[in-house]
Amino acid sequence: MALPNPVKIPTFVQIVRWFVSPLSLLEECAKNYGDIFTLCISPQLTPVVIVSNPIALQQILTGDSSGNFTAPGYQNSTFGCLFGPSSLIAIDSTEHQRQRQLLTPAFHGDRMRSYAGAINDITEVIIRNLEIGKSFSIRDVTQAISLRTIVKLVFGFYEGDSAKQMENLLNQMLNNISSPGGAAMLYLGFLQKDWGSWSPWGKHIKLQQEIDNLLYSEIQERRKQADTSRTDILSLMMSARGENGESMSDQELRDELLTLLIAGQETTATALAWAFYWIHKLPAVGEKLLAEIDSLYEDFPDNPDINAINKLPYLNAVCCETLRIYPVGMQTFLRRVEKPLQISGYDLQPGTLLYGNIYLTHQRQDLYPEPKKFRPERFLEKQFSPYEFLPFGGGVRRCIGAAFALFEMKVVLVKILSAYSLTLVDNIEVKPKRRGLVTAPASPINMLITGRRNSSNRNSISQDSSIATT
Ligand code: HEM
Repeated sequence: MALPNPVKIPTFVQIVRWFVSPLSLLEECAKNYGDIFTLCISPQLTPVVIVSNPIALQQILTGDSSGNFTAPGYQNSTFGCLFGPSSLIAIDSTEHQRQRQLLTPAFHGDRMRSYAGAINDITEVIIRNLEIGKSFSIRDVTQAISLRTIVKLVFGFYEGDSAKQMENLLNQMLNNISSPGGAAMLYLGFLQKDWGSWSPWGKHIKLQQEIDNLLYSEIQERRKQADTSRTDILSLMMSARGENGESMSDQELRDELLTLLIAGQETTATALAWAFYWIHKLPAVGEKLLAEIDSLYEDFPDNPDINAINKLPYLNAVCCETLRIYPVGMQTFLRRVEKPLQISGYDLQPGTLLYGNIYLTHQRQDLYPEPKKFRPERFLEKQFSPYEFLPFGGGVRRCIGAAFALFEMKVVLVKILSAYSLTLVDNIEVKPKRRGLVTAPASPINMLITGRRNSSNRNSISQDSSIATT
């Protein structure tokens, strides 16, 4: 079966480069072959077509309804081994649809907005512990914030011994899989060998068991003491019933919890770290954003309304440009061709695998002139289609946490920038690199707090008081 533009680099070299420097491999291929080419980088090391043409992306990501494409869960074996077979990422078809319907409300609308206060408090506690004038890694700070936030979202609490233990273990697990070697271990089944707790996979298994113990004991606690007033995601899942009245098993609950805890943490933490970098690297961006945030406090002197934060145009543009220039997820999950069809003039046969490439789409000169330049204004000047700007993927597997992640980014940025002055320690250019399964800063972004801003009243963000936090 002829595939579009097979890349003429030995397979072994493709794989090594895919783990060590995927962005330079992708850019080289785009330069040589255009916006459709074939690499051997799927988890099974079979050929996979890489697409970064918006028209083709629209065809692929809307293709489920016509039965032309599927987004098969079994193809996401990388994540299946991390999260388990009942993870949202590993299931598909009707089961996938049903599970998404159950989880989606927790990440949207009033339920989402009700978390503004908690995110605000979490941020306040973490930032208050930093000493003025002492350097810190902004990624450590954003990681702590997003980890506590996702624990709160999932369990309804973020304080106490089990929350702390969970935080600690998840941090260790993320660090273990964050190197190129760690990512390779998840991707390539033959590297998953337990040679004791000193080996990466052995360490991974041990951490996974400790996390499982905590998750299962929380599930057991709740089974013993059902509390129907709780609105956290675990309670939501435990009260759900399937078509025949069956509830989710412990294993299903565990897989879904782990998926959300990991997927919701690493991604948002990285995006926020990049946002702080750009805002402080480019003074003009920082000044414009601060002026917008300060005007918000003029309208709401006591504390800003969460809906007003959500609507700030420049803040939104800064978040979008952050997610455009170095998208945390460089590609969508795999899609599979189900019927013979044409994409970008190439005939594709059933069984062909495709990745929608988010990074290359966001680097297109025709859509984003001077694509390597961080310029939030492009999002004020033009409305991009969901196939031109797709940091959260699209179609049936579009990121379930997209709205929540953007919301969290905005609340944290407003909270910190309105109350503190920060600066970058080194004025160096930070490039992106693979960190496990995401794209993250290649070197630490060290910052320091230079002082507090006129802030006595800048400690809280109001939310609709009719919405109860859990
Ligand atoms: C800036 C933050 C984030 C980015 C850039 C991001 C990016 C992505 C991308 C690119 C996909 C693949 C979509 C596709 O294949 O079309 C995805 C899927 C997913 N994301 Fe996110 N994500 C973020 C935050 C979150 C959060 C906060 C959560 C949950 C708490 C989350 C949970 C998930 C899940 C469960 C899926 C799989 C959905 C499915 O298979 O149906 N993500 N995300």
